[in-house]
Amino acid sequence: GHHLLSIRDLTTKDIKSIFSLTSDMEKIVRDRRCIDFLHGKIMATIFFQPSTRTRLSFESAMFRLGGSVLTFGNPEATRAGTKCGETLADTARVINNYADLVVIRHPLVGSANSFAQYADVPVINGGDGEGPGSEHPTQALIDLYTISKVFGQINGITMLIVGGMQIRVGHSLLLAIARFFHVRILIHCPDSLWLSKDEEAELRMLGLNYHRVESMEEALLEADVIYHNGWKESTPEPIPDEYQITAAKLTRVPKHAIVMDALPRTGAISPDVDTTPYACYFKQASNGVPIRMALLAHLLG
Ligand code: CP
Repeated sequence: GHHLLSIRDLTTKDIKSIFSLTSDMEKIVRDRRCIDFLHGKIMATIFFQPSTRTRLSFESAMFRLGGSVLTFGNPEATRAGTKCGETLADTARVINNYADLVVIRHPLVGSANSFAQYADVPVINGGDGEGPGSEHPTQALIDLYTISKVFGQINGITMLIVGGMQIRVGHSLLLAIARFFHVRILIHCPDSLWLSKDEEAELRMLGLNYHRVESMEEALLEADVIYHNGWKESTPEPIPDEYQITAAKLTRVPKHAIVMDALPRTGAISPDVDTTPYACYFKQASNGVPIRMALLAHLLG
């Protein structure tokens, strides 16, 4: 298919091609240049949930490639917003004719899939919902690319994932690792925010090497990557101390360890981590532009 709705839509060949293209795109971003590779192409970003990174980095990526961007100020300003309630299917049928590619973010799981059913142009899932089946595939690509840049490879690393596992990026990340890489995964997550039985069964079937840990303490000694997956998207509540990353907790991590978070940090990462050599989350966010340039080039080029 020509959509990116789930990590399942990608093959090993796609990942290799996107990561290799990303290195070229990084040079363009570094020089703050624009090229005309996608001149004449239009990308629509339709976001029914707040976003800073995903939307703006997609739009920046499209401009860097010489393309154009269509968007709306807020969902209420469209017919698809809650006030009028035009269906996603009808919205897809019309936007089709206005843009050559659509990036959608939506609070309901499966929305990107429903939209894509009625769209002839490529559709990218910019994050759909929370809980079983939710995904944020482009964020997982950013995260894995960041790891590959820092360590020169992804295979063989140990990754400690902390926080709620209902959050969409965690699903895409685990699926991507299960399908494409050999990573040892330790997860510190409360039972109340754990994966669904179906998700766990799929990850087991794919051979994901993961273990749940009762506390972060010992896992931190051997973690190359400490990845915070957030807590709850829909109901903002303070993250218990036990699930926060602070500078004090990082005193015995490997020297080369990195702390990652898709952001916003929402209390997951204490600000005192920012000035440690382990902080990698702003670098991670900056990789959003070259990864999304590569993805746009891959789907439209
Ligand atoms: N990481 C991420 O998806 O951030 P936004 O919600 O700001 O897009």
